[in-house]
Amino acid sequence: MTETPTSNDRLVTIYGGSGFVGRHAVRAFAQRGWRIRVAVRRPELAFHLQPLGRVGQIHAVQANLRYPDSVARALEDAEVAINLVGILYERGRQSFEAVQAAGAGAVAKAAAAAGTRLVHVSAIGADARSASGYARSKAAGEKAVSSAIREAVILRPSVVFGQEDDFFNRFAELARWLPALPLIGDGKTRFQPVFVGDVAAAIVAAAEERARPATVYELGGPEVKTFRELLELMLRVIGRGRLLVPLPFALARLQAFFLEFLPKPPLTRDQVRLLERDNVVSPKAEREGRTLKGLGFAPTSLEAILPSYLWRFRKTGQYARSAV
Ligand SMILES: NC(=O)c1ccc[n+]([C@@H]2O[C@H](COP(=O)([O-])OP(=O)(O)OC[C@H]3O[C@@H](n4cnc5c(N)ncnc54)[C@H](OP(=O)(O)O)[C@@H]3O)[C@@H](O)[C@H]2O)c1
Repeated sequence: MTETPTSNDRLVTIYGGSGFVGRHAVRAFAQRGWRIRVAVRRPELAFHLQPLGRVGQIHAVQANLRYPDSVARALEDAEVAINLVGILYERGRQSFEAVQAAGAGAVAKAAAAAGTRLVHVSAIGADARSASGYARSKAAGEKAVSSAIREAVILRPSVVFGQEDDFFNRFAELARWLPALPLIGDGKTRFQPVFVGDVAAAIVAAAEERARPATVYELGGPEVKTFRELLELMLRVIGRGRLLVPLPFALARLQAFFLEFLPKPPLTRDQVRLLERDNVVSPKAEREGRTLKGLGFAPTSLEAILPSYLWRFRKTGQYARSAV
């Protein structure tokens, strides 16, 4: 008689598990009883993940997507692999092509060779014809994944929000110091921000074969909002009035040119190119149920979550007041 494996027997390898979405995915897998192998470039820096699970449930190993042997080693005995590796700007050998295209292919080929299922996290906007190198490499990564493992599930989130997110924390921090905030592209780009907890739940559902195989899901929240509306909401939550100054794309690109010289650039020309396109779930994905709802989840609203982590940007003495 063959026994059905319990979650305790199940091992997942999470590439990029130390990142923002990664930490939430690790917690979600831990809650479902999985054993978790976090594959990261510097395992010694992944100790912060330990409290997310029971003693011995989570461990870190070394893997760099630019080195296929390290990728394959990290997969040994894993039932499923999750690829959360991504970069927002290029630095040296960390190019979009090496990390998000070839790197995604390396994970997929290793998973195909080992017979491991694969859940790949891409991004809404992935497009081989995009003007943005980030978006083109995400499309190339998806193609490499599907050609290595046809059954792989691909998840494309819109901008992800939650504690430690890049978007709201960054603009709230700017609002703390600056009298005005830039409305890149005049603030008209539309987004569908999705809660990191919902993305993590979708990743676990796909890993546990509760998603359709060989399918690209687009993950968005319950509301579509323009860049201007998102900044206005953030300012309301932190209780600060700030001028929103329209910055046309051409000027934003010029500014980004200079910012790219910083070691960790807050804006790049490639990101400005990304902002020229709306970042929302497509009507086709909605129709075909390739969404959070299609996976059985009701997406969480911004209003429900933003106050829980943006409170620290409020002026002293404002904490007690209602935020939104
Ligand atoms: N956050 C969003 O709003 C958003 C929206 C759409 C799509 N996504 C996608 O979702 C995924 C997760 O995003 P995130 O926000 O969690 O990103 P993140 O916080 O920047 O985490 C990225 C992870 O990738 C790892 N990494 C980078 N280069 C690597 C390499 N060469 N080999 C191995 N690991 C490497 C990083 O580890 P190190 O410490 O080694 O650098 C980190 O653990 C990415 O694919 C991203 O493109 C995110």
